[in-house]
Amino acid sequence: MKGFEFNINNQATHVVIERGALADVGQLIQGEAGLANVVRVALVSDDRVASLYSASAVRSLEQAGFEVELMVFPAGEASKTLTTAETLFQTLADKHFDRSGLVVALGGGVVSDLVGFVAATFKRGMRFVIISTTLESDIDACLGGKTAINLPAGKNLVGAFHQPAIICVDPNCLATLDARDVRAGLAESVKHALIASAEFLIWHEQHIDELLGVDADVMETLIERNLKIKADIVARDPFERGGDRMLLNLGHTLGHAIESQCDYALRHGECVSLGLLGACRLSHTLGLLDIEVVERIETLLRHLQLPTTLPEALDPDKIAASIRNDKKISDGKLSFVLLRDVGDPVISQEVTPDDYLQAYRSLLG
Ligand SMILES: NC(=O)c1ccc[n+]([C@@H]2O[C@H](COP(=O)([O-])OP(=O)(O)OC[C@H]3O[C@@H](n4cnc5c(N)ncnc54)[C@H](O)[C@@H]3O)[C@@H](O)[C@H]2O)c1
Ligand SMILES: [Zn+2]
Repeated sequence: MKGFEFNINNQATHVVIERGALADVGQLIQGEAGLANVVRVALVSDDRVASLYSASAVRSLEQAGFEVELMVFPAGEASKTLTTAETLFQTLADKHFDRSGLVVALGGGVVSDLVGFVAATFKRGMRFVIISTTLESDIDACLGGKTAINLPAGKNLVGAFHQPAIICVDPNCLATLDARDVRAGLAESVKHALIASAEFLIWHEQHIDELLGVDADVMETLIERNLKIKADIVARDPFERGGDRMLLNLGHTLGHAIESQCDYALRHGECVSLGLLGACRLSHTLGLLDIEVVERIETLLRHLQLPTTLPEALDPDKIAASIRNDKKISDGKLSFVLLRDVGDPVISQEVTPDDYLQAYRSLLG
């Protein structure tokens, strides 16, 4: 079994990464000191994940003696709204849940963001556990305590910091994930390597086939290494107050601009792949990063079958408008994460909207 204890603001999260962990989640919760008095569990999932994995989770929870209420909402980003949150609040109230109960999110990042937000706010906060089932979530979304819902005005605009008591990652769940979602998740892993570890980038280059083939051992190592990198960065800046946590935005400024303009035709991770390459090219243009490193990163992204050019040109005017509206712009300057080398990121306030547009244009096919 792989895993570690993650402490943030005197709150401990027990991170478990183990094949088959889903079937033992009841015991895992039972054995957690901070959850000793839990009797009732609200197990919340999306309909796709529920059809695959809720029976196993319910069986394990009931065998451990918990009383389980299963709550399911439609899969997809479109569900990450106040409307779905309200339905869940209402169901929790109808079922007479109070703060002694436990909320368990079963699914990917959409489920943990939405359900985490509901757990953070229902009756001013219920304890919660994440059972992660997508690679995006296994290596990124499940850890860090950020919960969120979207508004028509933008993604993740409403949320709260709320740490789960347990993060349970079962790499076996990746077997049913679409290959495209696996590849999209790998973009976040490349991001972590670029931020934190030249050696981890080499590891990716050496394990392309196993990564694309979702080799169980390699995936376990991948997940543990990613979560440790993220845990390290989050612990230094738990509430993203201008410190190191911003580094996790590498590739995401441009990535989000592309994501918001393509009407979700591309996966988040695919936009991150493009954003990473744009950020690397910009780092080179600004004299920070050697061209050989940019080319090496482009090759790795290509080998991981991630996009390195925009499939069709998005309207540059719309991208420019989206760039101008970026919430990270103040006084015409943007906080942008650049690279000096692999494992050596820097937050720059010197990037102008023109630089940013140029980086975007470099991605046009
Ligand atoms: N809180 C954070 O720090 C953080 C970090 C990164 C991303 N996110 C959020 O995460 C979301 C994206 O996460 P995601 O890609 O996991 O999305 P997701 O939860 O929507 O999952 C993608 C799709 O895969 C399906 N699925 C999930 N597990 C499966 C499995 N094992 N087998 C088959 N199908 C499965 C889902 O039903 C869904 O249709 C975004 O909303 C993003 O904002 C949050
Ligand atoms: Zn991301």
